[in-house]
Amino acid sequence: MTATQQRDAVDVLLAQHEQIKAMFAQVMAASGHERRECFEDLVRLLAVHEAAEEELVHPLARRDAAAGDAVVKSRLEEEKQAKRELADLYDIGPGDPKFDAGFTKLRDAVLAHAEHEEHEEFPALRRAIPADQLIKLAGQVEAAERMAPTRPHPHSPSSAMGNLIVGPPMAVFDRVRDAIRDAAQDRRR
Ligand SMILES: [Fe+2]
Ligand SMILES: [Fe+2]
Repeated sequence: MTATQQRDAVDVLLAQHEQIKAMFAQVMAASGHERRECFEDLVRLLAVHEAAEEELVHPLARRDAAAGDAVVKSRLEEEKQAKRELADLYDIGPGDPKFDAGFTKLRDAVLAHAEHEEHEEFPALRRAIPADQLIKLAGQVEAAERMAPTRPHPHSPSSAMGNLIVGPPMAVFDRVRDAIRDAAQDRRR
């Protein structure tokens, strides 16, 4: 990407992949309360990212006649599996001794999944969809990130309760997906 070009959806998704990778490392390195917070941030980002891919990106990548359908099918399977594992880890909790093994397995699976997208799906997307449409799509992916529930700032009054604010992964995924669908409906109106 040159300075004069606008970011397209693939650029935004690649940046999110880097962020996801960094957050996995942060959770591994952290402990105690900080670890819980890092894990919640990761749950949120994964929800934002995968929901945007499922709702906005995969349907367009499918249009690539050469590989789209098969490639997307495999990615959806991987995403389903990752969501299940993430939900299990959330239930176990980042302080449990069993957490680390499952978390390492999830990280490896999610990073392999991201690599498959980068090498197979994103090239298919750029083949199938015109550049100006991919630039618009970048805005929609970024908007999805703003619609997701956030953890309040550590010093804000509501965090005094010490509750998990972001919520269980499946609920976060559903909320982000619904927000993306509502926004898509508004665009069609
Ligand atoms: Fe994905
Ligand atoms: Fe991805």
